Amino acid sequence: MNIKSNAKIVGLGTYLPHKKLTNYDLEKMVDTSDEWIVRRTGVRERRLAEKEEFSSDLAIKAVENLINRYNVRINDVDMIIVTTFTPDHFAPTVAALVQGHFGIETCGTMDLNSGCTGFVYGICVADSLIATGHSNKVLVIAAEVASKVIDYSDRNTCVLFGDAAVATLIERTDEKGSFIASYFTSEGKLAQNVTCSNLSDKVNGQVLGKKRLFQQEGRSLYEYVVKNIPDAIYNLLQRSNLTFDDINWFVPHSANLRMIKAICERLNFPIEKTLLSNEYYGNTSSASIPLAIWLALEESKIKSGDKMILYGFGAGLTHGGIVLEW
Ligand SMILES: CC(C)(COP(=O)(O)OP(=O)(O)OC[C@H]1O[C@@H](n2cnc3c(N)ncnc32)[C@H](O)[C@@H]1OP(=O)(O)O)[C@@H](O)C(=O)NCCC(=O)NCCS
Repeated sequence: MNIKSNAKIVGLGTYLPHKKLTNYDLEKMVDTSDEWIVRRTGVRERRLAEKEEFSSDLAIKAVENLINRYNVRINDVDMIIVTTFTPDHFAPTVAALVQGHFGIETCGTMDLNSGCTGFVYGICVADSLIATGHSNKVLVIAAEVASKVIDYSDRNTCVLFGDAAVATLIERTDEKGSFIASYFTSEGKLAQNVTCSNLSDKVNGQVLGKKRLFQQEGRSLYEYVVKNIPDAIYNLLQRSNLTFDDINWFVPHSANLRMIKAICERLNFPIEKTLLSNEYYGNTSSASIPLAIWLALEESKIKSGDKMILYGFGAGLTHGGIVLEW
C-alpha cells in the first residue's frame, strides 16, 4: 500500500556473537570447500551464539548498542516487537524478557514470526501502530540464533546461516515519515520448502525428516525467488510512485549472493547499489536486512533522504517489502 506515514527510523544497534565459524572450519565438519561456499553463496564467515546464549540475550545487547550509539532513551517505548523464528521459549515471549530486563513501564510486548521476512513485517507493524495513534515509540528487534536449529552434518544448510540481533527504534515525527509503500504476499501451499518442526512433525501433510532442525529445499527456493521476487519488487515500486532511478539502495534479504545477483540482473538494477550482510555473517534470517543497513551506516554509505527498497523472503513461504526514505 501507499503509506501516509508519520513514523521515522531513529537508529539501529547491533549485537554479533563473538564466536566465528569460517568456511575452513566447515571444511573439517562436512564435505564442502571454501571455494564452493564462496562461489555458490558469497558467505565466508558466520557468528554463532554460545551454548547458553539465546535470542533474548542477543536482543538485549543489541538494544544496549542502540542506546550507546544514539544516546536515546527507551524507558518511554510503548511497544517492543521481536522478530524471530528462534525464540527462547514457547512462553514467555522474547519481547517480554527484553521489557523485563530494561524495566520499561507501560510497554506492550509481542514476538512476530514470519521467517526471514520478519523484520519488514515488524517495522510495518511499528509504523501502523504509530500512524493510528496506538504508539509514539516502538522498538523492533530482529533476534535470531539459527545455529540452535541447524544440523551441522547437513552441508545443504549449515554453510548458510549465522546468528545476530539488530534493534531498531522507530518514533512519531512532526516531519516527513520514513515509510512510503509496502507489499506483502504468501505462498502457504509451498510451506514444506522451508521448515523447522516443533509440536507437529508434518507440514501440508508431508512428514518432516528431522525433529526441531531446520530443513529447506534449497534449489526450489532459489528458483522460486529468482522467478517471483523481481515482479513483486516491481509491484512494490509501483505503489511508491517511484522508479528504480529514484532508488539509492536495494536491501534484499541476504540469503545468497548468487540469488541476489540474479534478482538484480532481472531488475536491471546495479548490484553496487545493493546493501548486504551475508559475506561475514551468513544468512541471519530476519536480522539480515537491518544488519546490512547497520553495516552501511557504519561505513557512512546511507545519507539522509536516500530512498531504499527493503525486500524479505523466507519461511511460509512469505515475501514482502517496504520502500522508505532515510
Ligand atoms: C542451498 C544452496 C546454497 C545450494 O546451492 P545450489 O547452487 O542451488 O546447489 P544445488 O542444491 O543445486 O546442489 C548442487 C550440488 O552441490 C552439492 N552441495 C550442496 N551443498 C554443498 C556444500 N555446502 N558444499 C559442496 N557441495 C554442496 C549438492 O549436494 C549438489 O550435488 P549433486 O549435484 O552431486 O547432487 C542454494 O540453493 C540456495 O541458497 N537456495 C536458497 C536458500 C534460501 O534462500 N533459503 C531461504 C530460507 S530463509
